Amino acid sequence: MKGLSVSEKTKVGVIGLSMGQNHVIAYKNIADAEMLAVCDWDEPWLKHMQTLHTVPRTYLKYEDLLADKDVEAVSVCLPTSMHAPATIAALKAGKHVLCEKPMATTARDAQAMAAAAKDAGKVLMISHNQRFSPQAQYIKRLVEQGRLGKIYFVRAGWRRTMGGLPSADSQRATGTLNRNWFNERAKGGGVLFDLGSHMLDLSMWFMGFPKIEKIEGMNYSTFLPAFSAAHKQSGDAEDLAAAMLFFEGGATLQLEVSFGSFVEQDAVFVELYGSQGGVSLRNGVLKVFGEDQGAYTAGAIQKFNLPVQSPQEHFVQAVRTGKGPLVTAEHGVAVTTALEGIRECGIVLGDPNGKVYS
Ligand SMILES: NC(=O)c1ccc[n+]([C@@H]2O[C@H](COP(=O)([O-])OP(=O)(O)OC[C@H]3O[C@@H](n4cnc5c(N)ncnc54)[C@H](O)[C@@H]3O)[C@@H](O)[C@H]2O)c1
Repeated sequence: MKGLSVSEKTKVGVIGLSMGQNHVIAYKNIADAEMLAVCDWDEPWLKHMQTLHTVPRTYLKYEDLLADKDVEAVSVCLPTSMHAPATIAALKAGKHVLCEKPMATTARDAQAMAAAAKDAGKVLMISHNQRFSPQAQYIKRLVEQGRLGKIYFVRAGWRRTMGGLPSADSQRATGTLNRNWFNERAKGGGVLFDLGSHMLDLSMWFMGFPKIEKIEGMNYSTFLPAFSAAHKQSGDAEDLAAAMLFFEGGATLQLEVSFGSFVEQDAVFVELYGSQGGVSLRNGVLKVFGEDQGAYTAGAIQKFNLPVQSPQEHFVQAVRTGKGPLVTAEHGVAVTTALEGIRECGIVLGDPNGKVYS
């Protein structure tokens, strides 16, 4: 990899300061990083963030931040439809990029981003933060050690009980932010790309990113049309997606994600079914199942004894060492391709004049 940072600290910029605020805080906690510049087109919020986090430089346009020669690496934390243009522009400007998930709204955009990183010889990492939990790291180690045998079936999901639909507006210290893009398909909204990208990345990483042979699924926008109409917003994205992915070699993955449904409880889960053992990670609780001298074993794991890094720390390390990153552009392309495949399975739209649930 050419053009790796040689300065004492890696000088970082963050573009988009909603989720991006978490990136700013993370970078400020990294000894090898200098939080140099932030960008947001909401000027009062930008200034508020600058003061709150003591960041030297501010930009209203990301193009201007990218023209800042001192910035070596950036986090792209803009709404999803802006990931591809901003990431490609950043790579062309010679910056390393940590791009928020989901990588892009189309597989084609994701491929263009991966190609731009290759051409520029810069790091492009996707911020799939679920991989960085001690539980996820522990599971990955079990898989790599062969303790589960052959993984033949995975069940993953992230579902919310009714009341979880994204509202169009969010209040922040300096005013109101419209974030209705979360409910608009064309802008990369919908639960499939939002929560589905997390669970697909995690599951496919555990499985070693096998090639997908077939996808079957369905998307439902049951509650969003009426919810959005009542709030005078457009809302055509799915609030539930369910899919079955069939991989080369025979393994399958069952996915279920929802912004709000009439179900018993909120749940974030991954279950791996292996030929020699199994794993269940549900709402942060990790259980491992197996067999010992003919007896079935089941146990909760509470101590992980693994070093934990934030995605930002890992990214800075990848920039400085040329090793990694853990979440590659190719992984992002694979996840985006799977998401696109599920999206293309179709959508069932609810009645915009129906009963309004949030
Ligand atoms: N990894 C995670 O767990 C996680 C969590 C939340 C969001 N995200 C991802 O982060 C991304 C951003 O999500 P969010 O919730 O912060 O969105 P948001 O809409 O709440 O915030 C976007 C921010 O970017 C600014 N902005 C928008 N367009 C801009 C432009 N062209 N130039 C400059 N500033 C602009 C807005 O003013 C706002 O401050 C999404 O892709 C989302 O999926 C990831």
